[in-house]
Amino acid sequence: MPSLKDCASIVKKLESLEYRVLKIFVSSIKHHEIINNYNIISYSNLHKDRVDYALAILLKLKLIAKTEKGFKLLTSGLDVYALKILVDSGIILGIGNSLGIGKESDVVAAVSDIGQQRAVKFFRIGRISFTDTKRKRSLEKNKNVNNWLLINIEAAKREYDFLIKLKSTKMNIATPYFRSMHSIVMDRIDGIRLIEMKNLENPRQIFYKVFEQIRIAYKENIINSDLSEYNILLDGNNDVWIIDWPQAVSLEHPNAEFLIKRDLRNIIRYFTRKYDLNLDENSCYDGLLK
Ligand SMILES: Nc1ncnc2c1ncn2[C@@H]1O[C@H](COP(=O)(O)OP(=O)(O)OP(=O)(O)O)[C@@H](O)[C@H]1O
Ligand SMILES: [Mg+2]
Repeated sequence: MPSLKDCASIVKKLESLEYRVLKIFVSSIKHHEIINNYNIISYSNLHKDRVDYALAILLKLKLIAKTEKGFKLLTSGLDVYALKILVDSGIILGIGNSLGIGKESDVVAAVSDIGQQRAVKFFRIGRISFTDTKRKRSLEKNKNVNNWLLINIEAAKREYDFLIKLKSTKMNIATPYFRSMHSIVMDRIDGIRLIEMKNLENPRQIFYKVFEQIRIAYKENIINSDLSEYNILLDGNNDVWIIDWPQAVSLEHPNAEFLIKRDLRNIIRYFTRKYDLNLDENSCYDGLLK
């Protein structure tokens, strides 16, 4: 499977013919997971030989795969397509080192056209077979439960929309700039995950900073619902940044109270166990509305 770095060099190499054919796969994701040579010829108006030629290249680069009934787009094919959009529209110049490999995403560094640091998050839901019943249940609602590419595009849309909304508050949120298929371009936060901090000088102060972020989101009707020491970054000014919002829900969600209490409990548990703070879940919950 080509890495994101490989995909970035493929973006530079591919000719417009191959993109034309790749684009047909991308446009068909929603309705036809598998397409054959004849579909491509009729959608593209290209000669059979040219289609065969382009398919051979896409296959060789592992952007598509052959199946019994035709061909299907692979994650790397969607990566190349998403990257091409980002580069062609001047959102980023290229991609750099990995910033993090999460359970459900690959995050890489990038530089904008004016030299600013960016992070690009590529969704990878379905990469790991998971036993997380919460996520499983919410995914089952999606009719196309086997179409991971579509699920990843939807997740990127959800996170992007939440980031836009949260950014308009006083929260510390990585500014979102653009969504391309299953990827999001945002500001790169120069920080360290809370889980990686060996020690904190003033853990109580950091806890209340986290609490304040949760409170602002809550007042804005948004619950992260996957909050933990893994999704909080601490920067050089001791400011906290909550990342990872695709699974956020609004206060109208039927389990809203359960989810906000679980977020609070996760953070409280971390600070009580690691830093021996004395924190009370119920008073924190009451404090959200003040
Ligand atoms: N804007 C950013 N700036 C810098 N680093 C980031 C940014 N966004 C994400 N990261 C890094 O990438 C990692 C994965 O990101 P994120 O938590 O959003 O993805 P995930 O796959 O959903 O994670 P999880 O494993 O928690 O499910 C983070 O832990 C963090 O180290
Ligand atoms: Mg995360």
